[in-house]
Amino acid sequence: MKHLELLVEAISARYGLAPQPDWPERIHRGLAVIAEDLGLPRDELRRRLPQDRALLRRLAGHLTVEETFFFRQPDHFSALVAHLRRRLLAGGAAEKVRVWSAGCAGGDEPYSLAIALTDSLEASLVRRVDILANDLNLRALERARAGLFRSWSFRTQDPARLRRHFTVTARGEHRLHHEIREMVRFEHLGIQQLAERLQDGSLDAIFFRNVSLYLDPRSSSELFGHFSRLLREDGWLLVASSDQRPDRDLFVAHDKLTTTIFLPRSAEDRSGGRRHTGSLGATVARDWIPPSGAPRRATPSPPAPPATPVDRVRAAATPSPGDMLARARRRADRGGYDEALTACDALIAQEPTLADAHQLRGELLFHKELYSEAVGALRQAMELDKSDLLSRYWYALALQASGRTEEAHREVVDLQACTEALSEKQLLSDGRTNAAELLNAARTLKRSLG
Ligand SMILES: C[S@@+](CC[C@H](N)C(=O)[O-])C[C@H]1O[C@@H](n2cnc3c(N)ncnc32)[C@H](O)[C@@H]1O
Repeated sequence: MKHLELLVEAISARYGLAPQPDWPERIHRGLAVIAEDLGLPRDELRRRLPQDRALLRRLAGHLTVEETFFFRQPDHFSALVAHLRRRLLAGGAAEKVRVWSAGCAGGDEPYSLAIALTDSLEASLVRRVDILANDLNLRALERARAGLFRSWSFRTQDPARLRRHFTVTARGEHRLHHEIREMVRFEHLGIQQLAERLQDGSLDAIFFRNVSLYLDPRSSSELFGHFSRLLREDGWLLVASSDQRPDRDLFVAHDKLTTTIFLPRSAEDRSGGRRHTGSLGATVARDWIPPSGAPRRATPSPPAPPATPVDRVRAAATPSPGDMLARARRRADRGGYDEALTACDALIAQEPTLADAHQLRGELLFHKELYSEAVGALRQAMELDKSDLLSRYWYALALQASGRTEEAHREVVDLQACTEALSEKQLLSDGRTNAAELLNAARTLKRSLG
């Protein structure tokens, strides 16, 4: 068997990853990066792989999709905090509760929980929570440990929360404060291998979100078997809306209204009936709320006639459309959606062809859950600036949220093709999201559309 085939086989057998057509190319690139990082000659690396497990794990980390963001599927965090609070109050002062984020990518998921706990519970309770997180992707873990994030990580983030827990660095990255960072322990391990090391009944919750869609179904089923063993009888398994669901003989849905939170079935068996630990409300299949970024370029207006001295005085007193848009964005970032919407409407009345203003209006309507209106506003933004890929992404999201799944699917397929044509590092119109990030987001949206 050829070396490449051996590597593919070893990685999919050990980590359950379903091989993809782009693996040969990614393996090739991964080997080059590893050789450079470790200062190993390529021949030596080839000789040691696939037997050397640490190297194999490292290579596997080059084949995964590390797409994640803070407070993805926000219902999960509020519901889990309430659940953990009940557990902490019911247990003794020395009793710990433990949560595992299996496949945590750059740490946004476990840190979201750490933030949610810190914001909602007394410090004495928070100290009793251990959060464990693991991933195959070493670079993502290094970023997670350093607590460094780019703005693309904060798509659904309440800006007030952001300010409290992050400091913006000179390079414009967001550094998570030490108190939150030290709540999470990161391990560079496969989920399968970590599952074997953990004790039965030791966990109160497991996040296994947006991972199973990259695994072969048999591996996911095996992992569900591990999870049912590792969870306490009232422990929670949280999956994403687009993920494979656990086998029915192992898990039972937590609540009629949600299809993404499960209890180990033994809990039902032991208590002679399923327990209700509170209603969550519907889990909306709306994982994707795109970034509210800095104003992007404006659609060019016709050139203005030369300014007279009177015009210049007026201009000094009247804010420019760019300033008005920036102000509306700042209001939106502070959660003042209504105010921002009013500002947007005023701006559009003044500059009807300003694509950015229509896009911001669409984002705001989306946040207010007025999806059909958001579709209309985003459609207008796209018509005014057909080249803008971020508005197209928003548009696909709004279509999905308003139930127009087929159209959303068509849009996202098209968007994916356009984004694939760009170089990975190319920055998009908000000046901070790059093409690789949008491509991951588009792929995930496509998967969630089936
Ligand atoms: C799309 S991300 C999801 C991150 C996060 N759970 C979320 O929902 O935002 C999937 C992550 O799972 C990791 N992963 C996939 N298979 C894995 C395995 N067998 N062991 C450890 N990590 C794995 C990938 O490296 C990737 O970072």
